[in-house]
Amino acid sequence: MRVLVTGGRGQLGRALQKSLAQHQVSLLDLPEMDITKDDVVQRYFNELTPDLVIHAAAWTDTAGCEADPEQALLVNGEGSRIVAEACARSGAAMVYISSNEVFDGEKREPYGEDDPPNPINAYGRSKLAGERHVKSALERHYIVRTAWLYGAGRVSFPEKVLEAATRDGSLKGVTDEVASPTWTADLAAGIAVLAQKAAPGTYHLTNSGHCSRFEWVQEILRMRGLSDLPVEPATLEEFGAPYHKPVFSVLSLDKARRTGIEMPSWQDALARYLRGAD
Ligand SMILES: NC(=O)c1ccc[n+]([C@@H]2O[C@H](COP(=O)([O-])OP(=O)(O)OC[C@H]3O[C@@H](n4cnc5c(N)ncnc54)[C@H](OP(=O)(O)O)[C@@H]3O)[C@@H](O)[C@H]2O)c1
Repeated sequence: MRVLVTGGRGQLGRALQKSLAQHQVSLLDLPEMDITKDDVVQRYFNELTPDLVIHAAAWTDTAGCEADPEQALLVNGEGSRIVAEACARSGAAMVYISSNEVFDGEKREPYGEDDPPNPINAYGRSKLAGERHVKSALERHYIVRTAWLYGAGRVSFPEKVLEAATRDGSLKGVTDEVASPTWTADLAAGIAVLAQKAAPGTYHLTNSGHCSRFEWVQEILRMRGLSDLPVEPATLEEFGAPYHKPVFSVLSLDKARRTGIEMPSWQDALARYLRGAD
């Protein structure tokens, strides 16, 4: 199978290269394929004739999106429309990576795929715009919502925690923001199965279980033998994020389970990641 991955040099893109190793994979990213440029995208589709497109490219800087919501909609909304319409024209199936941030976080139990989205920040609105374009452009689509990604290819949350621990000798952790930390390697493995076995539609895929940012920080330190380091609990408000964040955006994995995909727990994933497993 010929697979085209957008955002191929991002943290998920890199993990997808490994999980799809038995296929012919083309990883494209900025600057060569800007997804907001119709003609450029079409040229790559003509050249590569993909059977499957995994659209992982996005503007993921949530604070940046808040400061420039039009640019967020251009990249995450319009860019996704352009990729989806190219898939429809060429007959390729499409996986669109979406986010827990399409939900408002007001629910107190895991969100199902059919719960109504209600984003509360510019990034979430732009990711939802992308979902809607994908749904209306082609039937053979998989919308995969995930959360709190970390993995090789970027300085992600575990590295930031460990850097701050070494630098400052103490840390703060947010107690009222809860979701499921997800290692890109496990997500990429789940996506590879989903795109080959499951019926098209919307799916939630994260590592299983959930925690607050505070608990995540504690677990990273514990696994690195740094449990003695003080972690000060703080609320989102005290932390002062420059945009609204959903407080409880845990995604239900029931549908993924029914499809035969069992995601490892977030603690197990974190342990393997910190051990340097691929
Ligand atoms: N990170 C998370 O916690 C998280 C949570 C839920 C869902 N997601 C979704 O998961 C997907 C993968 O996320 P990730 O963490 O792997 O993100 P990432 O590391 O930021 O990778 C995204 C890639 O897309 C590229 N990109 C940005 N604008 C582009 C454009 N106009 N044309 C082509 N490529 C462009 C980025 O390039 P530059 O680096 O040069 O900008 C980057 O290489 C995204 O769709 C994201 O919305 C992420």
